[in-house]
Amino acid sequence: MSNPALLVLYGSQTGTAQDTAQRLARQAQRRRLRVRVMPLDDYNVADLIAESLVVFVCSTAGQGDPPDNMKNFWRFLFKKSLPVGSLNQLDCVILGLGDSSYPKFNFVAKKLHKRLLQLGACVLLPVGLADDQHDLGVFDYLLHVSLSQKALPSTYTFHFLDDMQEKEEVQLRIPMDQTVPSQSHPFPARMVFNRRVTEPSHFQDVRHIELDVTGSNIEFAAGDVVMMRPCNAPEDVQQFCQLLKLDPETRFTLSPTDNTAVPARLPQPCTVRHLVESYLDIAAVPRRSFFELLSTFATNELEREKLAEFRSAAGQDELHNYCNRPRRTTLEVLADFPHTTAELKVDYLLDLFPEIQPRSFSIASSLRAHPNRIQVLVAVVCYKTKLFKPRKGLCSSWLASLDPAQGDVYVPLWVKKGSLKFPSEKETPVIMVGPGTGVAPFRSALQERTAEGKTANILFFGCRSKSKDFYFRTEWEEMMETGFLTLFTAFSRDQEAKVYVQHRVRDNGELLWDLIANKNACFYIAGNAKQMPASVCDALKEAFQQAGGVSAEEAEQMLATMEKTGRFQSDTWS
Ligand code: 2AM
Repeated sequence: MSNPALLVLYGSQTGTAQDTAQRLARQAQRRRLRVRVMPLDDYNVADLIAESLVVFVCSTAGQGDPPDNMKNFWRFLFKKSLPVGSLNQLDCVILGLGDSSYPKFNFVAKKLHKRLLQLGACVLLPVGLADDQHDLGVFDYLLHVSLSQKALPSTYTFHFLDDMQEKEEVQLRIPMDQTVPSQSHPFPARMVFNRRVTEPSHFQDVRHIELDVTGSNIEFAAGDVVMMRPCNAPEDVQQFCQLLKLDPETRFTLSPTDNTAVPARLPQPCTVRHLVESYLDIAAVPRRSFFELLSTFATNELEREKLAEFRSAAGQDELHNYCNRPRRTTLEVLADFPHTTAELKVDYLLDLFPEIQPRSFSIASSLRAHPNRIQVLVAVVCYKTKLFKPRKGLCSSWLASLDPAQGDVYVPLWVKKGSLKFPSEKETPVIMVGPGTGVAPFRSALQERTAEGKTANILFFGCRSKSKDFYFRTEWEEMMETGFLTLFTAFSRDQEAKVYVQHRVRDNGELLWDLIANKNACFYIAGNAKQMPASVCDALKEAFQQAGGVSAEEAEQMLATMEKTGRFQSDTWS
């Protein structure tokens, strides 16, 4: 591709604007742009419709008048006969020069801005004010960013296939024998069950899900994680296709425009539905670069102005308030900019929308207790912001929506080593602190250790209420009966005062001190980050001081040593 072309046009009375224009042109040349620079009146205004990017550098003379060498241009530009929208193709930026002590400071640049917008031009940046070298540097940088965005070709070209060609079902690729499933070759695991494990009246929907991995060669140990890549909800896919005027059933193949490889996990040919459902992340909060690229498609004046603001340095607070703070999704943004969305070129889909990323879940089962199965415990993420519709976690909502009772459903997955490791020596006690879904890796460890005949297991479990979110209660009771488990519970909301796992840790200082100081026990924390892990550590150090009679520094040192030697481990998530 040839370098993008830049035209710098200036109106200068005393030579300052000319000098600035030339300086800007040189800087752009250094950035390998093809540049022309000239006074406005030397330029044939009718050619503007064919330009791709123009920088106007204008000073203001006298009482808000245009400089002499742009007077003809000025007259032409303000002709009533010029049709609105005649500069629809033009992208431009405006740099105003002037003395801020004059009341008509930058009058020409501001008036030019208004008129260019009226004529349909896309003004990429807010009107720049270059009073000194520094301003020009910033402006030049922003210009470069705009240009590189504008000149960017799409990474792929879409080739739509004739509708008459036979339609193939998009198949999940099943890995060859002997290969271990991985990110590039996930295993399609059949969902066996998907049960809600909280009472219907409980505020949170938490699912216990079992997946069949028979024939996958998957192996794992307690503490490992399963990776899954979610899909977009069917209604979101439908809305997306409507907004972009795409037929979900059309099939296409992709070819890269440079040396980039075609995404391996997209079948070729692929349906639009499959691409949108399983590849394009339209549920995430969009990044700033999304707005930068989106704005290059804007032709509607209102939308273009708003998008130009969002991509500008000055508009970042506004963008944050619009997008990040209320957690607005990319799809919702597209719906807010319907004209621009309808203009999006399909070739840019993979540049505009990032790929859906895999999510990790602690495995909650052991192959010893559940051969050929992986079980997980998933809290369905759902919360309110100032937006009317509640925000939903993509992966947990997708998992919760799958119903194996309605027919076979498959979840593509692979497993990864986790950060928790449990001791192999039979007599080493393990102390596990796992409130809420933090209990998942400990259930896996307990199942594994029970199968291996390891009895020294202590679990601290916390939830809101004994009757509402006490996961796996009957399993724990069985393990306690058979002598494999000592359980301490903290039901935070079953009484007036909050009781948390750290309170139970503190209450049982003597026992913990004995296990850690005399029996070489390992200590684990898993669950929601925030305050819990730090509070549990504090409680443990207090226990060391009170039961072991050590000083605060010694307690701190003990914990640090345990961490270094792998006897203190934590796995927390948000
Ligand atoms: P809460 O919601 O009543 O505050 C699982 O989520 C359990 O962890 C709940 O009982 C929850 O109590 C509790 N929890 C919340 N914040 C905590 C913290 N900082 N430390 C320990 N437990 C906490």
